[in-house]
Amino acid sequence: MVNNKLNIIDNKIKINNIYCCDCLDFMQTIEDDFVDLVVTSPPYDDLRDYKGYLFNYQQIAKELYRIIKPGGVVVWVVGDKIKKGNKSLTSFRHALAFQEVGFNVHDTMIYRKKNTPFMRSNAYTNCFEFMFVFSKGSPKTFNPLKEKTARSGMEMLVHNKKSDGINKKILGRLNEEKTKTNIWEYAVGLGGTTNDKIAFNHPAVFPEKLAQDHILSWSNEGDLVFDPMCGSGTTCKMALINNRNYLGCDIAQEYVDIAIERVNHYLNKDMQLSIF
Ligand SMILES: C[S@@+](CC[C@H](N)C(=O)[O-])C[C@H]1O[C@@H](n2cnc3c(N)ncnc32)[C@H](O)[C@@H]1O
Repeated sequence: MVNNKLNIIDNKIKINNIYCCDCLDFMQTIEDDFVDLVVTSPPYDDLRDYKGYLFNYQQIAKELYRIIKPGGVVVWVVGDKIKKGNKSLTSFRHALAFQEVGFNVHDTMIYRKKNTPFMRSNAYTNCFEFMFVFSKGSPKTFNPLKEKTARSGMEMLVHNKKSDGINKKILGRLNEEKTKTNIWEYAVGLGGTTNDKIAFNHPAVFPEKLAQDHILSWSNEGDLVFDPMCGSGTTCKMALINNRNYLGCDIAQEYVDIAIERVNHYLNKDMQLSIF
């Protein structure tokens, strides 16, 4: 039986596809321990008008724990609204809910936005969201991203410091690169977030580079990357470009249409996804 709305055949989802569906209904069609990595950003605090859709983050956390493989990772990008001078702390509530259903809070990373407008007269301008990294047990994959060190070449290095506090120094070569810190910075807006103009018909797109950096860090080629609230399809697009399998779902048909258009741009005509 084919359910046109979901394009689910015999109750089985097809990977490398994007569906229009409530993510909780959608995840019920996915078997246990199926997904390698989730990179997603939920709606929070009514900050944007997503046509009034609500979502149950406790139940979503539970379902994600069921469908993610042991050692799999969920990257959850979320911020906080300020209501009458009071931060909502929704981000923390979400993180605690994920911990309660069994996830490790492997890291609390920061997504720093390079170009944020000044917003509050009595506080510093907020320029970040959290990128919680939840894992089912210890992450099975970690391909650390590197960055250039400030200094390189030969230098006198501290060596063999003992309890007497005396530093010996020897000539050594400094590393040219080091593992990045857990604060990642991205430009936002056209040319930063993405060059796909159509993506901005969605109100809250996250940067392609952010999705790609997590995909490269926590998955390998051929792995399955899922975004249960895929919006304009950023995670699906970056998974495809980086030779991962992808699966996306969003409750709003107009966003699914955008996601499909963005992904189709990278697929041969005979492989293109159709809009149901
Ligand atoms: C912050 S946006 C995601 C944006 C996306 N990361 C991107 O780059 O375009 C959150 C999305 O969640 C979707 N959404 C809200 N409730 C949902 C639900 N119950 N099931 C699936 N998607 C839902 C909204 O339609 C919205 O597109």
